[in-house]
Amino acid sequence: MRAVSNAPLNRLETEEPMLVEHPVDEQDVLEIVRDRGADRGGLIAVLADIQSRWGYLPEEALRTVGRATGRPLADVYGIATFYSAFSLKPRGKHLICACLGTACHVRGGPAVVEEIERQLDIRAGETTPDGMFTLETVNCLGACALGPVVVVDGHYFSKVRKPQVRRLLDDTLAGRTGVEEGTDRILPVEVACSRCNHSLMDPAHPIEERPSIRVAVCHGDQYGWLRLSSWYGGDGCCAEPEIPAGRVTRFACPFCHEELAGGFDCPECDAPMATMLVRGGGALRLCARRGCTSRRLDFP
Ligand code: FES
Repeated sequence: MRAVSNAPLNRLETEEPMLVEHPVDEQDVLEIVRDRGADRGGLIAVLADIQSRWGYLPEEALRTVGRATGRPLADVYGIATFYSAFSLKPRGKHLICACLGTACHVRGGPAVVEEIERQLDIRAGETTPDGMFTLETVNCLGACALGPVVVVDGHYFSKVRKPQVRRLLDDTLAGRTGVEEGTDRILPVEVACSRCNHSLMDPAHPIEERPSIRVAVCHGDQYGWLRLSSWYGGDGCCAEPEIPAGRVTRFACPFCHEELAGGFDCPECDAPMATMLVRGGGALRLCARRGCTSRRLDFP
């Protein structure tokens, strides 16, 4: 196990600093508006595209959006400030979002935030002077059962503790996105049948505060249901009837009834792995042996 220092992070030794406000090209903004449209849903998509292009919502870009869509600037700002995912200020290269919602609060979220502040020498809501990190806090990330939750550059980490903060920051600077020792990396996924493409998400039966993934299962002459956490890295699940530990099942789509087979075997126990399509691209593969937690996410 690597030793973890408690000294504040020395960022300048690890990566080039970056605090750059890129100029806004009006034509780029107009192209985004043309692609996305000007209704409310389109406007949110326009702002999301601008943020992903410039890292925040520059005033100049918002003015262009207002002119191009015929909307008052106040409307555009209204949407930009309503959603916490949008930022009117340039953010650092790495965005840390720490949850201070009730569940994460009682599980130690404030101590984790204080440690991040101490390591980076900034307060929540600020960006480090070298532009490497921005720290923000939110009231809930929808993974309350897995708190305290910290999201770094879109990667979810659950059950984060103070001593793990330094490693999280070091790994972020070093471009390592692996699982922290003692910290579970989690990611929300939405999946569909790999045969008929029907969604397998079951909002009526949430697990770990998110819609579960529902599949039909068959083992021997038994048929039933299996519901799994839709957090990649989460371990919540329930089966009906209960599946004995170690039993290998076959996963099937509850809609087209085809087996969710993908031709992959579990690297840990050799059981077949069920395959589901991930919305947005890629495949989720889960070991079909009850009790084996082996899984993988394959991106295209
Ligand atoms: S309170 Fe932190 S994820 Fe919900």
